[in-house]
Amino acid sequence: MALTPPPDQDIVVVGATGDLARRKLIPALYNLHIESLLPARGGVTGVAPFAWDDARFREFARDSVATFSRTGIDAAAFASFADRLRFVPVEGGDLGPLRAQLTEERRIVYLAVPPSAFADLIAGLGKSQLADGASLVIEKPFGRDLESARELNRTLHAVIPERRVFRIDHYLGKETVQNLLVFRFGNSMFERIWSRDAIARVEITVAENIGVEQRGKLYEEIGAIRDIVQNHMFQVLAIIAMEAPISFDPEQLRNEKVKVLQAIHPVDPRQVVRGQYRAGEVDGAKVVGYRREPGVSRSSSTETYAALRVRLDSWRWSGVHFLLRTGKRMARRDTRVVITFRDAPLHLFRGEGMHRMHSGRLEVRIQPDEGIALRFVAKQPGPELVTQMVDMDFKYGESFKTSPPEAYERLLHDALDGDHTLFIREDEVESGWAAVQRVLDHPPAIALYDAGSLGPAEADRIAAPGGWTAFDDTA
Ligand code: BG6
Repeated sequence: MALTPPPDQDIVVVGATGDLARRKLIPALYNLHIESLLPARGGVTGVAPFAWDDARFREFARDSVATFSRTGIDAAAFASFADRLRFVPVEGGDLGPLRAQLTEERRIVYLAVPPSAFADLIAGLGKSQLADGASLVIEKPFGRDLESARELNRTLHAVIPERRVFRIDHYLGKETVQNLLVFRFGNSMFERIWSRDAIARVEITVAENIGVEQRGKLYEEIGAIRDIVQNHMFQVLAIIAMEAPISFDPEQLRNEKVKVLQAIHPVDPRQVVRGQYRAGEVDGAKVVGYRREPGVSRSSSTETYAALRVRLDSWRWSGVHFLLRTGKRMARRDTRVVITFRDAPLHLFRGEGMHRMHSGRLEVRIQPDEGIALRFVAKQPGPELVTQMVDMDFKYGESFKTSPPEAYERLLHDALDGDHTLFIREDEVESGWAAVQRVLDHPPAIALYDAGSLGPAEADRIAAPGGWTAFDDTA
C-alpha cells in the first residue's frame, strides 16, 4: 500500500544535535520531505541545551543530510526542507520555551537522548502542558532492567497514554525484518516445518565491525545485553517464533510477539558469555581495545559481546535452542538468522570421499547482502556418490533491483501517522527485561576477545556441538 502524508502536526526532536539525530533522524526527515511524506503543515523543531539559533541548526542539518542521506542532498529540496527547521535551546526538562514555536494542535515529540534524561523530559512535557495532543517517540534502551522499565512506564503513563507512546526499535523498520513476517505468514509451505519437529536450533547473530565510536561514555552504562539483546535480538526472535496473528492489526501482532517474550525461560547466567574487545585489527586497520576508547574506564567490565542460550517454554519450541550472539569490533558486519533442520534420521551417504554430512538450513541475511538462502545437501556430478551443500538463494538486490530504504524513514512516518504496528508495547518491553533479569543481576565474568575476531573462544561453550555456524560458511 502506498504511504500517504500523515496528518498535520509539529515535529519536535529533543536531542537534535546528537549523534542519532545527525546520522539517522535528520536525513530520514529530509527523505520523507522530498517524498512528500511529512505532514503538509507543521515545523520540525530541534531542541538541545546549546545556545544555537535557527541558522546554526540549519547548517548542522545540511551537513547531516549531505553526509548521511541515502539520496544525497539536492540544494532546492534542502532549501524547502530547511524552511521547516527551527531551534529552541532547552536546559534540563523545562520544555516551556518550545510552546511559542508550535503552530499545530497535534505534535510528535521524539526523545533522541540518553536513557538517563527520559524521566525529566517526560515530566517536563507534562508540566509545560505540551503533552496534550502529543505523541511521544522514545528510543531504546527503555529502562535498564525490569524495575526501572516499570517505573518509566508509570512515569510515562502519568503524562501520556499508551496509545500515544511509540517505543522505537529500529530493527522493526528494516525491510528484511518486516519481510520475515511475510516470509512466514505469506507462504504456507514453511509452517509445517516451523517447529521442534523439524528444527534443531535457531542461531541469531548481530555482528558489527564498528566499535563504540563516540558513544563510549553512554555505552559504559549499557553494554551489549541492554543495547542489542533485550531489544533488537528479542524482536527478531519473537518474529521467528510467534504464532500467526489473526490479522495484521497492531494489537494482534503485538499480542503474539509478547507471548513469545513471555515464554522465554528466564535466561540462566551460566548459559551466557560476556566478552569485551581488546586491541586488534579490523578490515586491515589497527584498532584500540574497548578500555582505550574515549569515555571508557580503563578497568571497565561492560560487555561489548554477549552470547546466550535461550529456551522457550512453549509447545512449538520446547527443546529447541535459540543461540544468540552479538558483538562489536567483530570480523565483519553481519546480521543473520540461521535455522538448522534436524539431521536425516538415517545417514545413508557416509564413507570415503564423502563430504562431511551437514544438516540443511535456512539462512535469513538481515544485513548486509540482504536475502534468504536455503542450503541443502546435493550429489556432486560424477560417477561417485559424493555430496556437498548447495544453495537456493534469494537476493534483495537481484530480485528488486534496489537496496532497502532506511529503517528510520518508515518508522518516523508510521509514528506520525499513529500506526503502532512496528513499535514496542509496554508489556513487550517488560517481558524482554524479565527474560534477562537474572543475567543483569548476576553478570558472568568478562572474557576478552581480539578486535577483528569472531568473539571470545569461551562462547563455543554456548554453541551447538560443532560450534557456531560461521558467518559466511557455504560448506
Ligand atoms: C543501535 C545500537 O540500536 O543499533 C548500536 O545502539 C548499534 O550500538 C546499532 O551499532 C546497529 O544498528 P544497525 O542498523 O547498523 O544494525
